[in-house]
Amino acid sequence: MKILMVCLGNICRSPLAEGILHHKAQQEGLSWTIDSAGTNGYHVGEQPHRLSQKVALQNGIDISHQRARRFTAADFREYDKIYAMAEDVIEEMQRIARKDFDATKVDLLMNELHPGKNMDVPDPWYGTEPGYHEVFAMINQACDKIIDKYRILNDEFRTSK
Ligand code: 4NP
Repeated sequence: MKILMVCLGNICRSPLAEGILHHKAQQEGLSWTIDSAGTNGYHVGEQPHRLSQKVALQNGIDISHQRARRFTAADFREYDKIYAMAEDVIEEMQRIARKDFDATKVDLLMNELHPGKNMDVPDPWYGTEPGYHEVFAMINQACDKIIDKYRILNDEFRTSK
């Protein structure tokens, strides 16, 4: 599985999503490729926001090695599944990818936790530390669901063989 997490700046939400899912996949012994990107280029090359790094580390996840990059149309060829943190992110992805936009690969991350509700992960960029804890908790629960779903599919595959 190759999974891409996308937000606007690739410094607050999607670095957390990358770090959290990578951590959980490793704990499950899954050799998944997980990356993140942003639809705007304002922070390319930067480390995740210090509060994303702080909250991740408080939860045992080091995301300091990550560097922001811009989402590109080529990501649709590279990744099996692309999770957007919010609806405006999907609109920006459509604008960037144009004819390469593949709706079958895209979903809002929170639809894993609350299917069909189309909830956004709120942007903590303008806020304070509690916002980052809230975002961490939301992403963490959604990533648990992704791992659970994979486990169920895998069990079904094994019993059907
Ligand atoms: P993110 O938050 O999309 O969660 O990384 C943002 C960070 C920076 C900006 C927007 C959102 N910005 O416009 O600089």
